[in-house]
Amino acid sequence: MTRIETVRLRAVLDSRGNKTVEADVLTESGGFGRAAAPSGASTGEYEAIELPVNEAIAAAREHAVPRLDGRVYAGDQREVDDTLRAADGTEDFSEIGANSAVAISMAAAKAGADVLGAPLYQHLGGAFRGENFPIPLGNVVGGGEHAQEATAIQEFLSAPVGAPSVKDAVFANAQVHGEIGSLLEERGTPAAKGDEGAWAPPVSDAEAFEIVEEAVETVSDDVGFDIKFGLDLAAAEVFEDGEYVFGDEVRSTEEQIEYVAGLVDEYDLAYVEDPLDEDAYEAFAELTERVGDQTLICGDDLFVTNTERLQEGIDVDAANSILIKPNQIGTLSDAFDAIELATRNGYETVVSHRSGETEDATIAHLAVATDAPFIKTGTVQGERTAKLNELIRIADEAL
Ligand code: PGA
Ligand code: ZN
Repeated sequence: MTRIETVRLRAVLDSRGNKTVEADVLTESGGFGRAAAPSGASTGEYEAIELPVNEAIAAAREHAVPRLDGRVYAGDQREVDDTLRAADGTEDFSEIGANSAVAISMAAAKAGADVLGAPLYQHLGGAFRGENFPIPLGNVVGGGEHAQEATAIQEFLSAPVGAPSVKDAVFANAQVHGEIGSLLEERGTPAAKGDEGAWAPPVSDAEAFEIVEEAVETVSDDVGFDIKFGLDLAAAEVFEDGEYVFGDEVRSTEEQIEYVAGLVDEYDLAYVEDPLDEDAYEAFAELTERVGDQTLICGDDLFVTNTERLQEGIDVDAANSILIKPNQIGTLSDAFDAIELATRNGYETVVSHRSGETEDATIAHLAVATDAPFIKTGTVQGERTAKLNELIRIADEAL
């Protein structure tokens, strides 16, 4: 095993044009890894803390880098991540910033893989299992915090559940995205794009359901396998004074449960993320009780990749799946812990990008390494295709 020689930190740009933290990790034997932190817009209240970039870099240089350089083995991810936690000293990385922590954690993992001469997913303990690839959930229409004057629901996600291979799934999502572009053009609806490259048309949620359903059916017929769709309602963002305010539609908790259960039935939804507020464990449980055998009820802002919050959810059967975002919790090891707890309790895992992304493709390897059934990482645009194309390469090289 080889020790980390140097950690170098710098500010670079993310996909929104905001500054983010990039880390380089060099090992004593010449191994190298580089990674940058993504950033959310509809962030959960309980996420680890993202500090202003310059502050995060300065704090990590002062507290974390001296503990890593020349001391910690690059190949020992747990030791790297424990060191980051000890250097920070808080529960939520508010001292060095989760943005610095996750960039260093991922860069060290890549350096560890480089030293071994192995693909990152193998270094992270996984193998590519052929037919058991992570199904990409692709944001094709959206609004909420990711676009202006678009749908109230944050994301409509293409879900190619019947795809025979990862590349078929990736290409199908891109085709659904293209088909929706054509449908919008036919309707004369001008459509901008949101942060993740999804269409952001000025239509009601009801209209968006019709458009997405038509596109998914058309592409499904064309490619010859089943494509469903799902939603991220990001409901915590619109929960005000005990009510859910989706555009002009205002619903009580009971009405929201009724509404979402109705959507699952009507559209045979494959996936429903954050249908309720980030503190609404009981309401989540009620919805899961009703439709959890038909669809995935996934906690993003609810669980924030945090094992304590996930355990609370498991205790009351709040959901049946969890979104995994390494930067929500700060390190890869913490993300692994959340995945392990979820899997042990029969929860499905969905490894996910953020709305502000970088060219980094670590989450593709994390999804393969942990045998995650799903990955949510957009459909088009370079920072999204970086992950999707990496999945295609992993499959191609492994088979
Ligand atoms: P975010 O959105 O990255 O802006 O938080 C993605 C999501 O809510 O899943
Ligand atoms: Zn979400």
